[in-house]
Amino acid sequence: MHDHAHAHDPSRDHDLDDATYDLLVVGSANADLVVGVERRPAPGETVLGSDLVTHPGGKGANQSVAAARLGARTALLARVGDDAHGRLLLDSQRAAGADTVGVLVGGAPTGVALITVDPSGDNSIVVSPGANARLTPEDIRAAGSLLAASRVVSTQLEIPVESVTEVVRTLPATARFVLNPSPPAPLPDEVLAACDPLVVNEHEARYILGDDAAPGDSPEDWARALLTLGPRSVVITLGARGALTADGSGSPVTVPSPKVDAVDTTGAGDAFTAALAWRLGLGEELPTAAAYAARVGATSVTRQGAQESYPTADEVAGQMEGQVEGA
Ligand code: RIB
Repeated sequence: MHDHAHAHDPSRDHDLDDATYDLLVVGSANADLVVGVERRPAPGETVLGSDLVTHPGGKGANQSVAAARLGARTALLARVGDDAHGRLLLDSQRAAGADTVGVLVGGAPTGVALITVDPSGDNSIVVSPGANARLTPEDIRAAGSLLAASRVVSTQLEIPVESVTEVVRTLPATARFVLNPSPPAPLPDEVLAACDPLVVNEHEARYILGDDAAPGDSPEDWARALLTLGPRSVVITLGARGALTADGSGSPVTVPSPKVDAVDTTGAGDAFTAALAWRLGLGEELPTAAAYAARVGATSVTRQGAQESYPTADEVAGQMEGQVEGA
């Protein structure tokens, strides 16, 4: 069994029982403007794509919807504009059952993500942060009661790093902090040290380690090297190959992903991180929570869009039964 520092602290258990939210997501909310393309244009080139579709998205809003659809008591702390995109995002949170008490409105237009999806389901994304860039450290401090009411607090990097740092500083000792550093940016040591886990894909792992930092070139090597930077645990998502977990208590553990036909990978990492954070908050060990999260992420890539693609807990359970039957 993994020896996790949070596992058997009775005072912590009491606090967890008192928590209002299983998961508070602090992060971005974007309108995703999505066009399907046969291939992406080269510089200076124009290509024709499919009809434009507008979906609710953003890494923070996606995580919040993913957790709420799974049944987690979830809240979102974010900022949107006082505009149609902002209303789309609020409606989507409420439809999933997430609490929007922490969603601030105004200050700039809602963030927008310009997304192309190719025939293999892979995406390319350019984000205009808009209101996300105006979610300030002051906003985080003002939401202290929301943080205090949460078992797990999860963030990403489509909001200012200073605001993520303020989350770490405002976090009660009883809460667990999860960070997906996407898109990657330099991280203060105090943020890295608070991560439990730091959730990265291969690109983000390489960014954080830098060209010279990785002693080897396998995910196991990256995980060990990332742990030396301070996080209490690390999860590296490996797409169809599943995920690798490490907390320094033994060798890294790889968990598989179900084999699925990918239609659209947009937001799959957000669903994975949300499910992982929720299950860790329920007390699951890291590999167990990551295995569940991998099933959630795999289900999401079989459907179009980000939030629309997220499964309920029953759908995840059904997928597991299907696997056993098909084995
Ligand atoms: O992770 C997927 C998300 O990244 C999209 O929903 C888009 O908004 C960008 O933030």
